[in-house]
Amino acid sequence: MTAPASTSPTKRVPPLGFTTPWVLAPMEGVTHRVFRDLIIGIGGVGAAWTEFLRVSQTPLPEKTIRRELGPQPDRCPVAVQLMGNQPDLLAATAVNAVRAGAPSVDINFGCPAPTVFRNCAGSALLRDPCGVGRLVEAVARAVDVPVSAKIRLGVDDPSRLRDIVEAVEGAGATRLTVHARTKADGYTHPARWEWLAKVVAWTSLPVTGNGDVLTPDDARRMRRETGVDSVMIGRGVLRDPWVFARLLADDRGTIAPNVGAAEVRAFHHAYKAAMAAAGGEEGVLGQLKQWWRRFDVAVPISPETRQEILRSPDLATLDARVEALLRASETSA
Ligand SMILES: Cc1cc2nc3c(=O)[nH]c(=O)nc-3n(C[C@H](O)[C@H](O)[C@H](O)COP(=O)(O)O)c2cc1C
Repeated sequence: MTAPASTSPTKRVPPLGFTTPWVLAPMEGVTHRVFRDLIIGIGGVGAAWTEFLRVSQTPLPEKTIRRELGPQPDRCPVAVQLMGNQPDLLAATAVNAVRAGAPSVDINFGCPAPTVFRNCAGSALLRDPCGVGRLVEAVARAVDVPVSAKIRLGVDDPSRLRDIVEAVEGAGATRLTVHARTKADGYTHPARWEWLAKVVAWTSLPVTGNGDVLTPDDARRMRRETGVDSVMIGRGVLRDPWVFARLLADDRGTIAPNVGAAEVRAFHHAYKAAMAAAGGEEGVLGQLKQWWRRFDVAVPISPETRQEILRSPDLATLDARVEALLRASETSA
């Protein structure tokens, strides 16, 4: 594949085509290739992104990006997300991302992590709408694939939000994802969906809304109440890996996936096997616990049982405790 490296600021490309309006949020340490592929395989995901790839000293090489991105699945596009604060490095990395097969490049303006924030990347960039525009423009000029931005409402408050939105649009982005919280809100403050409706009114870009969508009902309500064209689901997919499949079934008027102990058991083992096959044996226990910490559909789990599962010292114990839970739920069903 040839790597586009146009310097024209005026080229127009359509936004990345989503296969459904329900898209999987990038989540560092969660939505790596293995988890992403499993969720996409279940069905209903309209698009997905890599976890953020940090660009700080030199452009990331194509090989590194290819490893994170993997082959494009049949069911939906998977784009690359970059995070950094130097336009030339982001632009050069974006070119490598396209060489690695990325159908689109997204820029992260939302990460609140203290190290990222101190280094003036992620959400720290929201203080400077012109700077946001310069980064987006550098990337949009460098590649011929659609470029998007993922923002929060602001650092401490949404007072610069309109400037940021206009900067992103003016710089040639083709889509804007808005996580409806400020950096100061962290991850637990209730998302402020009312700002999504304002963003939709301010821009002609397609807007993806994000924040506090846990269930199919939440997703539909966000679309209805705010006018966003698509909805990004993050932690909700840990709560319910079938959330996208439920949305798709609803869209098509087909029967929602019947998820019970057997499906949960199959997901648990499929995740474990896929992690091991990908060489992530060491992290398997932590990854499975990360899922079991939030998983909350189909099988009732008491707080005590959940704690017991999360305290498992090794995989064999985790498996045994999970199996006991699933058996108990099958017996009581
Ligand atoms: C563990 C974790 C890791 C995250 N990593 C990223 C990331 O790499 N890139 C990004 O843009 N957002 C990241 N986010 C933010 C999510 O994409 C999303 O905006 C946020 O979780 C709000 O959506 P939710 O309420 O549906 O979870 C992360 C969130 C969590 C909880």
